Amino acid sequence: MSGITCGVTREAQTAQQAETISEGSATDSLPPTVRAARPSESAPLKVALGAAFYDDPVFGWLIGPGSNRPDRVEQYFALQLAHSFADGCVWTTDGLQGAALCMPPSHWRLPPQLILANALSFTRVFRGRLPRAVGLLVAIERRHLRGPHYYFANIGVAPEAQGQGLGSALMRPTLDRCDEERLPAYLEASSERNAALYERLGFECTEVLRFAGSPPLRLMTRQPQPQL
Ligand SMILES: CC(C)(COP(=O)(O)OP(=O)(O)OC[C@H]1O[C@@H](n2cnc3c(N)ncnc32)[C@H](O)[C@@H]1OP(=O)(O)O)[C@@H](O)C(=O)NCCC(=O)NCCS
Repeated sequence: MSGITCGVTREAQTAQQAETISEGSATDSLPPTVRAARPSESAPLKVALGAAFYDDPVFGWLIGPGSNRPDRVEQYFALQLAHSFADGCVWTTDGLQGAALCMPPSHWRLPPQLILANALSFTRVFRGRLPRAVGLLVAIERRHLRGPHYYFANIGVAPEAQGQGLGSALMRPTLDRCDEERLPAYLEASSERNAALYERLGFECTEVLRFAGSPPLRLMTRQPQPQL
């Protein structure tokens, strides 16, 4: 993987998976195998993320209805995956059912050169709603946690695999790294149900952002927790 290393060994991942099980978030079956994704896996991952976010309230507001919405959501995730593979880390499962896109300290912001280089793609994704997408992005960035932290840019699990502990497991390596390095984690939760999951993992809501009639986005921070 280019860019910043995900920094977790296979052994550490296995220990983290055991921990995930012992926290009771997975089922009786084998623990999900979480690993760093490869850039060559972008195509199936953008499909899994597109399916996960198809019904997301914020994407609904940003993209609107239409038969080509799945394609447009996937295009958006192709761009996000490119950024995460270059500057961060993409965690997935062996079955590629989902992904957590995690950015290390100082890399949370979408680089202006990436936005400019992909201006046409962003226009294709958001079309007439591009101004509200840009406005929301600016509002989110203004409120973004300052100081060193890890950022979950996106977490998604394909609908047929949801509710089996994969989302929690995909976040675990980054949360463990936050605890090891004594750094906070930060994310924006797009629904109350997601926020409940993140609260169980130690996040607290610091502000609810509503931009120009958007659905609420809960801005959530997790302080490092004592290591067991
Ligand atoms: C949020 C998400 C990543 C969680 O992954 P997951 O594998 O379903 O999560 P887990 O099995 O580890 O945990 C289940 C918890 O996730 C939360 N959750 C949110 N949406 C969910 C969904 N559609 N199905 C199942 N759980 C969901 C709930 O808190 C749930 O606990 P509950 O069943 O007691 O309500 C996944 O559901 C998803 O991709 N949702 C759609 C995209 C999205 O909203 N991403 C997050 C944006 S902030």
